[in-house]
Amino acid sequence: MCGIVGYIGENDSKEILLKGLEKLEYRGYDSAGIAVRNGSGITVFKEKGRIADLRAIVEEDVFGTTGIGHTRWATHGKPNRVNAHPHQNGNERFTLVHNGVIENYHHIQRDYLADVPMESDTDTEIIVQLIGKFVEEGMTTEEAFSKTLGLLKGSYAIALLDAEEEETIFVAKNKSPLLVGLGEGFNVVASDAMAMLQVTDKFLELMDKEIVIVRKEGVEILTLEGESINRQPFTAEIDMSDIEKGTYPHYMLKEIDEQPAVMRKIIQAYQDENDKLVIQPEILDALQEADRIHIIAAGTSYHAGLIGKEYLEKMAGIPVEVHVSSEFGYNMPLLSEKPLFIFISQSGETADSRQVLVKIKELGHTSLTITNVAGSTLSREADHTLLLYAGPEIAVASTKAYTAQLAVLSILAAVTAEARGIDLGFNLVQELGIVANAIQAQIDAKEEMEQIASEFLSTTRNCFFIGRVMDYFVGLEGALKLKEISYIQAEGFAGGELKHGTIALIEEGTPVIALATQEAVNLNIRGNVKEVAARGANPCIISMEGLQEAGDSLVLPKVHELLSPLVAVVPLQLISYFAALHRDCDVDKPRNLAKSVTVE
Ligand code: M6R
Repeated sequence: MCGIVGYIGENDSKEILLKGLEKLEYRGYDSAGIAVRNGSGITVFKEKGRIADLRAIVEEDVFGTTGIGHTRWATHGKPNRVNAHPHQNGNERFTLVHNGVIENYHHIQRDYLADVPMESDTDTEIIVQLIGKFVEEGMTTEEAFSKTLGLLKGSYAIALLDAEEEETIFVAKNKSPLLVGLGEGFNVVASDAMAMLQVTDKFLELMDKEIVIVRKEGVEILTLEGESINRQPFTAEIDMSDIEKGTYPHYMLKEIDEQPAVMRKIIQAYQDENDKLVIQPEILDALQEADRIHIIAAGTSYHAGLIGKEYLEKMAGIPVEVHVSSEFGYNMPLLSEKPLFIFISQSGETADSRQVLVKIKELGHTSLTITNVAGSTLSREADHTLLLYAGPEIAVASTKAYTAQLAVLSILAAVTAEARGIDLGFNLVQELGIVANAIQAQIDAKEEMEQIASEFLSTTRNCFFIGRVMDYFVGLEGALKLKEISYIQAEGFAGGELKHGTIALIEEGTPVIALATQEAVNLNIRGNVKEVAARGANPCIISMEGLQEAGDSLVLPKVHELLSPLVAVVPLQLISYFAALHRDCDVDKPRNLAKSVTVE
């Protein structure tokens, strides 16, 4: 949440900062700002709204070879111009951008800054005011920065400019991600390598509680005690074309369309030279040794976890619990002797999941992260990582990462099953190939999804998704997709549960999207559809070849029943996309949300 950029070099920094912020807009987009070191002082431009709104107020003739920038997802204080970053101290010597949450900002304000007037309602402002105060009391900027960091509780990624120290950006992080990018005659700072791929692909990873002094000729990493740290850069292996929309109107549509290719990439990535599915032996050992698995995740990744439980239990025979990460850390169940924790996270940065990882590491338990982002916090801090190979997912609504999570979880379960001597009775590689084709067939039938969106969702205020067994979990994901991008109130239910209360909400014309891909419960779900139809609902049934009945709105090609969620979710993604388009919603950047949720 929130994105940070910085540039120090020989060129005008404005355009590099603005372009970088455009790439980070997925992290938050309610307000934005840049500060540019401009001859005698620092000029700040900030605006409520998107980067485009900021761009419109940035004055062309302000030139500066050092600058910092920020795109915000509000946590403290309304999304308005005053609360937008950068923030400055009273005499405007210091200018700062921050991503994260300072949990003890009230205490710092009370104990150190009671006599300092605050301009904004943010937790961030106390950081820059405190640095200013310490410097007024006689400290150097570096000392003041270090002392301030020592007082902060919470998460932060910070970039700081000092009007009197022309050639430096001061940088630090704790829990929130931040990288320094290295160039010839310039260096940059970014929350995500994507933002600065325009100028470099060489990056230095920063660790929590270091102080980093970024100058155009070099970068110095120090401990809080001032000792120098030597670190090798890494090359970011992201293709620029992966992060461009190309001819697509929206990233979400591009990412939906990429799903068959992602399936094939995952199959390849997890096959050895004999085409056998493999995972690292240490991960297999961890699964073999576990007496119980806890899957920890949020949002869409949580929904993938629900299906992952089915795979690991039904294929590999290991008991699994699935938990919402924001709850688990504060309400831990009784743990077994040898639990294994699996963290599922597209971004690998979700703070709610990280707080659990920190706690279970303290308890000495083993962890595995399944993520799309190599080198992300959850990947670095867990014992093991499995990658999704889905390529960057930019749209806030997760699509290809979800199907990639399901594919990787199925591979993990199948390989573990084999190691345990369990015969699955089917060839997963072949079945995933069939799935890739079935997904493609959905993508090729977009007009049908557009038709369903316009028939069932164009005027409704609410919508229910029902299913049984795995279809129930897919329905939860379908409902999340629809509500987050179209703002239609949507909820997913187990078909049999409706009659225990929710059926009271069914009115004449209420759309109910029912999934019927599971043979053992096909009659049951169809019975549930009859119950809601009898009360006036407008049912839309999505079934699977072999289980279809006359009147079904869509029939999916037959795939292995365990893998049907990978296919069934695709029409739901597309229906949500078209419903959002019909309502003129901002598909890629829905209101109030951000792609990477780095605050608890
Ligand atoms: O990066 P993560 O998978 O950990 O993110 C968790 C959720 O914030 C995320 O899945 C969210 O629900 C989706 N963007 C919704 O489409």
